[in-house]
Amino acid sequence: MTVKLTLPAQSEMLSKDFIYGVATASFQIEGGANNRLPCIWDTFCDTPGKVVDGSNGDIACDHYNLWQQDVELIASLGVDAYRLSISWPRVINESGELNPAGVDYYLNILDSLKSKNIKAFVTLYHWDLPQYLEDEGGWLNRATAYKFRDYADKISLAFGDRVYSYATLNEPFCSAFLGYEAGVHAPGIVGKEFGKKAAHHLLLAHGLAMQVLVKNSPNSQNGIVLNFTPGYPESTSLADIKATAFADDYFNQWYIKPIFDGEYPEIMAQLPTAHQPEIHEGDMAIIAHPTDFLGVNFYTRAIYRADEDEHFIQIDAPEPRTDIGWEIYPKAFTELLVSLNEKYTLPPIYITENGAAIADKLVDGAVNDVDRIDYYQSHLNAVHDAIEQGVQIDGYFAWSLMDNFEWAEGYLKRFGIVYVDYDTQVRTIKASGLAYKALISNR
Ligand code: NOJ
Repeated sequence: MTVKLTLPAQSEMLSKDFIYGVATASFQIEGGANNRLPCIWDTFCDTPGKVVDGSNGDIACDHYNLWQQDVELIASLGVDAYRLSISWPRVINESGELNPAGVDYYLNILDSLKSKNIKAFVTLYHWDLPQYLEDEGGWLNRATAYKFRDYADKISLAFGDRVYSYATLNEPFCSAFLGYEAGVHAPGIVGKEFGKKAAHHLLLAHGLAMQVLVKNSPNSQNGIVLNFTPGYPESTSLADIKATAFADDYFNQWYIKPIFDGEYPEIMAQLPTAHQPEIHEGDMAIIAHPTDFLGVNFYTRAIYRADEDEHFIQIDAPEPRTDIGWEIYPKAFTELLVSLNEKYTLPPIYITENGAAIADKLVDGAVNDVDRIDYYQSHLNAVHDAIEQGVQIDGYFAWSLMDNFEWAEGYLKRFGIVYVDYDTQVRTIKASGLAYKALISNR
C-alpha cells in the first residue's frame, strides 16, 4: 500500500517557494548533558513524579554525538529547512560569557546545513533555562529578560550569517502557564499569581532580543513562535460562549496581542491585582517590536463550559484523538489562521509545528504510521484552505523530525516522522516520513 500526501494541483503549497521543513528542540533530542550546564528540565526530571516514565534528557536521541548522521537524514528527506533550538546552558557559561565548545557544536551543525542548502530556522529558547538563572527566580525575575537579551546578542554575533531565521521564544504560553502556574512543566511552580508575571518577562525578553537581532542579523527573518489551542463553546449558551472567549484571551490572545497590538487582552482588568503582571513604563513598546514573521504551532482545539468560580472549565476532548489524548480537529486550524489574520496586522506566517503522537510499532524494519499520514493530510489541507482564504503562509514544519523526549510524557509519546530505537539509537524513516519526502520532491 502506498500512502501519499497530496495537495490540490493549483495550491501555492506546491510552489518551490513554499518552505517545507522538520523541527526539533535541543533538550528533546541532544543528550550530551555533561557538556553543558544544568537546566530547569534536568532538575524537573530529577524530581520524582514529574515525568511519567521517570526519564530525563541525559542521552535523549544522542544527537549531541550523532548530529552528522542526523543532518544527512534531514537532507535525505529533501526538506528546504530545519528548525532547531539552541541550548542556552550549552553556549553561555555562568559568568554570561560564550562557552566556545558549545558554540562550536552549533557552528558545525549550521555549516553542515548550509553546505546542503538547508535553511536553518533557529529558536533561541525552547524551554531549557539555565538552572542558575532559575535559582535567581527564573522567569519571575525581570532580570532574566535582560540575561536573555545578552545571550541573544552574543550568540547571534557568533553565528554570523549562517541563520535564515531566528525565533526568540518557542511557545511562551507553555513556559509561563505550564511552568509557573499549572506546574506541570519545569520549573514546576504552581499559582495563579505567577503565570502572568512569568509571561510578561518572557514577552519582554522577546522584545529585547528582537532589538539585538535586527542589529546583529538584519538579513535573517526574525520573529517568535506561538502556540494556539483555539477554544470552542460546549453549547450555544451565552455563558459558554463568554467562557470560551475568556479562555481564548487567557491562553492564546495573551501572547499575541501584546506583540501586534502593544497591549494585553481586556480580561486583564478582571484578574485579581495579585495575578496581574508588573508592567514597567515602556515595556509594551519593547514587546511590540515589529517582527518579520509569526510562527504558529497547532495541534488541537479545546472545548469550554462556563464555570462560576473559574470563568471556564475545559471538558474532555471528544474522539478522534491522537495517542496523547488531543482531539484531531483540523477545521480549527483553518479557522485559527483566518481569525488571526482578521484580528491582527500580521507579517507572513510559518507553521513552525504541526504533527501527531501515534503509538508506532517498528515491524520488520518499517513503521506503517497511516494515522499520522492521515493527520498530516488533513492538516496540510487545512493550511491550504487558510491560504485560499487570504492568509499569507510561507512554510510548514512537521513536528517532529524524529521521536524524542516529550517533556512530562518522557519517551512514551512518539511524534517523529522518523522512528528512534532508544536502545540502539537507530533511526528508521516512517511511512509518514516517506510520504512527506514524496510530497516535497513532487512539487
Ligand atoms: C510543542 C513544543 O514546542 C514541542 O516541544 C512539543 O514536543 C510538541 N509541541 C508536542 O507536544
